[in-house]
Amino acid sequence: MFELTDEQRMIRLMVREFAREQIAPAAAEHDRSAVFPEENLRAMGELGLMGMMIEERWGGAGAGAISYVLALQEIAWACASTAVTMSVNNLTCEPIYRHGTDEQKKRFLEPLASGSGLGAFAITEPDAGTDAGSARLKAELKGKQYILNGAKAFITNGTHATVFVVIARTGGQPGNRGLSAFIVERGAPGLIIGPPEKKMGLRASSTVPLTFEDCAVPAENMLGREGEGFSIAMQALDSGRIGISAQAIGIARAALDEAVEYAKERKQFGRPIARFQAIQWMIANADRDIEAAQWLALHAAALKEQGKPLTREASIAKLFATEAANRICYDALQIHGGYGYIQDYKIERLYRDARVTTIYEGTSEVQRIVIANNLLK
Ligand code: CAA
Repeated sequence: MFELTDEQRMIRLMVREFAREQIAPAAAEHDRSAVFPEENLRAMGELGLMGMMIEERWGGAGAGAISYVLALQEIAWACASTAVTMSVNNLTCEPIYRHGTDEQKKRFLEPLASGSGLGAFAITEPDAGTDAGSARLKAELKGKQYILNGAKAFITNGTHATVFVVIARTGGQPGNRGLSAFIVERGAPGLIIGPPEKKMGLRASSTVPLTFEDCAVPAENMLGREGEGFSIAMQALDSGRIGISAQAIGIARAALDEAVEYAKERKQFGRPIARFQAIQWMIANADRDIEAAQWLALHAAALKEQGKPLTREASIAKLFATEAANRICYDALQIHGGYGYIQDYKIERLYRDARVTTIYEGTSEVQRIVIANNLLK
């Protein structure tokens, strides 16, 4: 029988208290004003939450993937924008941790994992989303530098990131084999950070376009070897998808909590609506799906801790958790009736925040491709 360790339980409790006391109260206001939650990130850095899966010697907390899943859920329960910011910082740490030289880790990973810097992961382009292997951003070696030209789109954390992991085309090889990974610092000449997109949800997280105009990057900032960029990115996304599963579970749990409270208080036909079977079924289905999603996410996280392959399991967890979160938010809003449609109620924000989870870090369709390929290859 699987049980959390005392340490994992303690971390969950500590993050739950922190998230409910310090993050939740400002979440609605951050959403309304689309203000990036900088103060949350500072506090999370101090608690060791920005590099939970990174060893302590590189600035992380060395807490492991299971603790990361538990913590991210608690943060997402309180503020899904803060959760995605934390998750993408992790997505940026991951490839540097796995493929970086000691020098790169010291210089770029340590600040990200300790929370003094912030990471962004740039693979998506205006014309290369699901087909990530068709990315066109060009990197040409000139002397001791690569010169980058092109564009990236929808880059989470872009407004505040200090370090970007960027996937660019280096070789003549077509498709994913011609891609390499680079570490690009904020302030690199020719890196232009565009204005934040105005999004439907996760309004406090930042999402920007990037333009590279003769952007010079030292050759020693290549991550791994030339041509390895695609598989470095896919490996990072395996881990990232566990994070998005956890984010979705946190949002879903918040929606269910709201629905339960509302159903107990709201009276129609002379009794609380919680007494009606139609409402009870929605609540039961939500509880069932959250439980299932939790086990899928923890299983993928356990595989990661054991250093085992997790591509299939991370995709299954992400597919299930994010689609469940959308269903749960839909039903929770339905339970709120007309009140759920106005901004005074938390469910309105949760409903918007959940929507993108089936889109970023690979759409639900991408997860199905990955899962099916695993069986059909
Ligand atoms: N780990 C390591 N290597 C992997 C891998 C993995 N998980 N998956 C694939 N690869 C390797 C393969 O082994 C293969 O190598 P060989 O050619 O040497 O055999 C190579 O990569 C190509 O693999 P595929 O043939 O499967 O690649 P494909 O072009 O058919 O693409 C895909 C498959 C699943 C659709 C992939 O393109 C994909 O995942 N697309 C979605 C991209 C994505 O998730 N973007 C998210 C952006 S980041 C983000 O959203 C962050 C945020 O803001 C929140």
